Amino acid sequence: MIFTEHITGMEIVRLVAETKAKISKFKAEGKTIGFVPTMGALHQGHLSLTEASVKNNDITIVSIFVNPTQFNNPNDLTSYPRTLEDDLEKLSIYNPDLIFIPEVNEIYPEPDTRIFDFGLLDSVMEGKNRPGHFNGVAQVVSRLFDIVTPNDAYFGQKDFQQVSVIKQMVKDLKLNVNIVPCPIVREKDGLAMSSRNVLLSKEQRKNASKISETLFKACNLAGELNVTQLKNWVVEEINKNSYLSVEYFEIVDDTTLEQVKDWNESNNKVGCITVQVGKVRLIDNVTF
Ligand code: PAJ
Repeated sequence: MIFTEHITGMEIVRLVAETKAKISKFKAEGKTIGFVPTMGALHQGHLSLTEASVKNNDITIVSIFVNPTQFNNPNDLTSYPRTLEDDLEKLSIYNPDLIFIPEVNEIYPEPDTRIFDFGLLDSVMEGKNRPGHFNGVAQVVSRLFDIVTPNDAYFGQKDFQQVSVIKQMVKDLKLNVNIVPCPIVREKDGLAMSSRNVLLSKEQRKNASKISETLFKACNLAGELNVTQLKNWVVEEINKNSYLSVEYFEIVDDTTLEQVKDWNESNNKVGCITVQVGKVRLIDNVTF
């Protein structure tokens, strides 16, 4: 590997067997393992998870794997940004111990035919609009957990529904992994950081800040408008911008993901949005 030479401390591993062997050794030494699964094209959002893991665990493992089974749209899989050299450069700031970069046949020596049932958690919002997406996420994360056997695994709240699904998966499979949700990291203008942001044109990128701007304003309006009025206001406000088209905006209970129809129905409400910006699909959310 050309990268390992100038990136001290970080070891790059591509094989499952080798990764397992290294982890067994760490465990035998009584070390705690923190794990940050990613699909690469890393930004400060991913790095914040890495930083939290390094701070709270003896050993940190970051995986970079663009998981084909979670892409319901083949074009999205092909166009997904791949920036390995840059990723390793960025990770070296936090110096995690192991970077696991497997090929597809290492993770799936045979096709994964498992079907998970998460009930409402994966049948609303992203689950409804991206059929099979969370099943693919559960397949890869359960496989990665099996290899890495982490004490703590770090996930960003940008993918709010993903955190709910992973927590449920851990419960259902009775895994001994502590899921640590981490706050959304945003660009200066408020846009939630995402690997897909690099796919936006200059104009699209400029206009995409309207998404978070509207969500923040919606928080302030929640006292004045009822739930339906607020939902309509958000959708109309964003759709006014010709670069943006709202796929859905839902206000849900943060645990059950059931739609909230009245502000008093739930103590912990989160507004989840997906917006199409040209061919790029961006998600964001805000807590009410
Ligand atoms: P990926 O999109 O690469 O994201 C990896 C992790 O970084 C996820 O937990 C995601 O929520 C978190 N993340 C992304 N943007 C963030 C932001 N702006 N602030 C905070 N955290 C952020 O999510 C996936 O990959 C995949 O589904 C994966 C879990 C790796 C399974 O393939």
